[in-house]
Amino acid sequence: MEIIITNDYEEMSEKAFEIILSVVKDNPQAVLGLATGTTPLGLYNKMIADHKLNGTSYKLIKTVNLDEYVGLDINNKQSYVYFMRKNLFDELDIDLKNTNIENGKADDAEAECNRYNALLKQMPQDIQLLGLGSNGHIAFNEPGTPFSTETHVVQLAESTIKDNSRLFERIEDVPSSAYTMGPKNIMTAKKILILASGANKAQTVNSMVNGEINEKCPASILQLHPDCVLIVDKEAAALL
Ligand code: F6R
Repeated sequence: MEIIITNDYEEMSEKAFEIILSVVKDNPQAVLGLATGTTPLGLYNKMIADHKLNGTSYKLIKTVNLDEYVGLDINNKQSYVYFMRKNLFDELDIDLKNTNIENGKADDAEAECNRYNALLKQMPQDIQLLGLGSNGHIAFNEPGTPFSTETHVVQLAESTIKDNSRLFERIEDVPSSAYTMGPKNIMTAKKILILASGANKAQTVNSMVNGEINEKCPASILQLHPDCVLIVDKEAAALL
């Protein structure tokens, strides 16, 4: 794992932007694996600013997102499909038909997981962006998820519901389950870019990088990826 330590969130986002931009420039039809959450917002703002200023085009770019809450869709502002449109897609020239995410409102959960797995096999990610959960999760793969798992429905851990409740009016409104790519789908990406910032991620960053490769820390599987870049600010890197 290549590790880049930055002074702050701003510099972390800038370095991440440089990597994403080089993937887009090398292949204007690249498949970008994208994430939601607070961590990638700085990067997304830089992609938008660059598109507006320099005209970098996303017309032929395809995207696959990591996860979506069960029961939520575009009509719900807490859905991840809404998040992606508002924070990135609506500001780029991307064709929404080329953007993919699990359907939180699917009638048949198993069929939806199969659909998403087939899609990922058809269009493997040229790069997969990840944030890091405070309990070591990547996407919504909570501790204990077998590394061989593909897209599935997961019951969210109490700690994840608590972490994510900041984006909802009441903690009771946070869905208790979600669709998520599995560790196996993440590991098939040609390149992985994981970002973390802030002191509250320091312990988990250390377990991911220096701990045993173990399903108790889902992110530890990234030690096995041949091309994984971790960009952390110095607070999140404090225990490395
Ligand atoms: C988001 C996702 C999650 C987050 C993680 C960190 O699509 O899959 O794994 O990346 O929970 O969230 P933030 O960035 O809000 O700290």
